[in-house]
Amino acid sequence: MATLPMAPHAAAISSFTTRPLYSPSSRSHRLLLARFFSAAPAPALAKGLRATASAVEVGGVKIAREDVVKEDDPTNNVPDTIFSKIGLQLHRRDNHPLGILKNTIYDYFDKNFTGQFDKFDDLCPLVSVKQNFDDVLVPSDHVSRSYNDTYYVDGQTVLRCHTSAHQAELLRDGHTHFLVTGDVYRRDSIDSTHYPVFHQMEGFCVFSPDEWSGSGMDGTAYAAAELKKTLEGLARHLFGAVEMRWVDTYFPFTNPSFELEIYFQDDWLEVLGCGVTEQEILKRNGRRDHVAWAFGLGLERLAMVLFDIPDIRLFWSNDKRFTSQFSEGKLGVKFKPFSKFPPCYKDMSFWINDAFTENNLCEVVRGIAGDLVEEVKLIDNFTNKKGMTSHCYRIAYRSMERSLTDEEINNLQLNVREAVKDKLKAELR
Ligand code: PHE
Repeated sequence: MATLPMAPHAAAISSFTTRPLYSPSSRSHRLLLARFFSAAPAPALAKGLRATASAVEVGGVKIAREDVVKEDDPTNNVPDTIFSKIGLQLHRRDNHPLGILKNTIYDYFDKNFTGQFDKFDDLCPLVSVKQNFDDVLVPSDHVSRSYNDTYYVDGQTVLRCHTSAHQAELLRDGHTHFLVTGDVYRRDSIDSTHYPVFHQMEGFCVFSPDEWSGSGMDGTAYAAAELKKTLEGLARHLFGAVEMRWVDTYFPFTNPSFELEIYFQDDWLEVLGCGVTEQEILKRNGRRDHVAWAFGLGLERLAMVLFDIPDIRLFWSNDKRFTSQFSEGKLGVKFKPFSKFPPCYKDMSFWINDAFTENNLCEVVRGIAGDLVEEVKLIDNFTNKKGMTSHCYRIAYRSMERSLTDEEINNLQLNVREAVKDKLKAELR
């Protein structure tokens, strides 16, 4: 992922979820109010894409397709592929790697903080722009607010892009210790570790002045020390006796902010992002004079290493050869690939226009090929004398479950080319 220079308030952050909220993965920082991706029927629905149900229920809230996918509304950029994931709640399946991981983290908090943490895993992913951004102090010009990075249902409503969206309301409801697990949604490029829907767990813990008064530390230092102790314990609970390090970073809602990394399988792996909650958030939500710590971790990222799962699309598989390998309470059982099907690469070159972004391209490709697309990668890029810029992308098609036929792939590629022409207004070369 490209690292771009950023405004000081949005300094580059390294990733701890499958994609960091506050690092600039997008090429364009402008608000792109155009609808690049229509939910109009895809020319050929890839085999394996299930027909979309017309309504689902999450946490007692009924969500109909029309509530989320609004083809004619220029302030909406939610495609059917995304609507089809709402309500699946992989993290609530006890036999699924994400559910197993969630429960193992619950066990850690239950054992070390018995009865203290309230758990939420069924909060509706449709939230207001205020909840997702304003309430956690995300600056008004921050890149994560752009239509290129976030799924907007309308100008005031988004599919949450992080579980931090629930911090303020839970605080206001009187909760002081909580864990929030949920599906989160981000527009992004395509490769084996990125998927536009993934799962996070948020932790939050408030301290009152009497808790740190005798410690010889100020509130912030006390919360930071408690945070580090708690999360080092969690990392050992999940990974065993590993080497760890703390890396300073930036989030709009915490200060100081850190990432925890562990040395695992010969590499440093970011496990989570965290920090001491900004006073302003506590003050606005009824906890003036208190301090708090917060963390957010990406469940897929951890599950991929703990269970040896090589591709993020597998989490969504209903194939028995995947699902039957995991069972409740068994963290870290190594996944055995049922077979490795060959990838097929197709290149396409086109002249881009000013509105072009890689995220839009990826959405178009995903709209046609669904989970049969493994990677979309820029392999060549030049600007001619007239100032026209050409991009060449290599698309890798590969099923996790079966071999694809040449005919099928050629068809997909043909449809992708048409869609790139129609929807992105790119001129194919
Ligand atoms: N919400 C952050 C993200 O998604 C993670 C985070 C949560 C960081 C809480 C600090 C505290 O990138």
